[in-house]
Amino acid sequence: MRYLVTGGAGFIGSAICHRLAAEGRDVIVLDNFSTGDPKRLDAIRDAVTLIEGDIRDRETVDRAMRGVDTVFHEAALPSVARSVEDPLTSNDVNVSGTLTVLESARRAGVRRLVYAASSSVYGDTPSLPKREDMPPSPRSPYAIGKLAGERYAEAYFRLFGLETVSLRYFNVFGPRQDPRSHYAAVVPRFIAAALAGAPATIYGDGFQSRDFTFVENVVDANLRAAEAPGAPGNVFNIAGGRRHTLLDLLAMIAAALGRDAPLPPVHEPDRPGDVRHSLADIAAARATLGYEPAIDLRAGIRKTVDWYRREAGR
Ligand SMILES: NC(=O)c1ccc[n+]([C@@H]2O[C@H](COP(=O)([O-])OP(=O)(O)OC[C@H]3O[C@@H](n4cnc5c(N)ncnc54)[C@H](O)[C@@H]3O)[C@@H](O)[C@H]2O)c1
Repeated sequence: MRYLVTGGAGFIGSAICHRLAAEGRDVIVLDNFSTGDPKRLDAIRDAVTLIEGDIRDRETVDRAMRGVDTVFHEAALPSVARSVEDPLTSNDVNVSGTLTVLESARRAGVRRLVYAASSSVYGDTPSLPKREDMPPSPRSPYAIGKLAGERYAEAYFRLFGLETVSLRYFNVFGPRQDPRSHYAAVVPRFIAAALAGAPATIYGDGFQSRDFTFVENVVDANLRAAEAPGAPGNVFNIAGGRRHTLLDLLAMIAAALGRDAPLPPVHEPDRPGDVRHSLADIAAARATLGYEPAIDLRAGIRKTVDWYRREAGR
């Protein structure tokens, strides 16, 4: 059985590739290396066929899709801030690119496509935890694009029988996440600052909260979503199922580094489009996918800190 991972040189896509390669699967990666890095696949280079190309390019996508049974569609420009600065490119990659992948998958007779959706579609509505049947309220071009991708995926199931499953990831973190970009997520930024002995930058007061999800739990969810009988045509929250403030997170990172307390953070103004609190109800993923967030935040932070330390030591 052949698997295509779009965005396979990215943080989450590469984690899926590592797992598939460890299971001896036939893996194709399609990535244009815009935010990704092929070095993430170095250790499994012999087990993966790498195609450098853009998901908006129909011919390239068709070539990557040949003989594929299952697609994990991870490629996107994955940043709220970037989408606020450049909504046209965000829409082009995240919406038109997703539609191009779906259309190619349909024509190639792919069995199932698992789509990387996002918790950002819930927006800043006050009710917590977020359940999949709540009305979405996307607040940024990124969130609107991710929701459009879900809706296209669902339509391709209803119209053409392509088995699509959307997984709404909540704040994923773990090894191989890039701390350097201006758009970097909070966990790698905080860890990089702590390792450098520098204060972390927090946008806002630090009491905003997130449901952080360790990347290996996300990989599990993807593999389950690729097989679970009741999954096609549906949307599932994938998260840890608990919420923590950014200040809690800082303290946890300090503890993982064996320090008593973190350095006091530097506060900057809130970023437009960011939501205040986020927490997932993961009952649907438990019931239909058999998903369980096996690695909790504390254990995930320890594994992640160890990985960054090892990388820094190279
Ligand atoms: N990281 C999170 O917390 C999170 C949360 C919710 C949803 N997601 C979604 O998960 C997916 C993976 O995110 P990530 O954190 O691994 O990001 P990432 O930036 O590390 O990975 C995205 C990958 O897509 C590739 N890519 C971008 N544009 C492309 C294009 N036009 N053609 C081909 N490849 C292209 C990039 O080079 C990169 O390798 C994205 O779809 C993102 O929206 C991530």
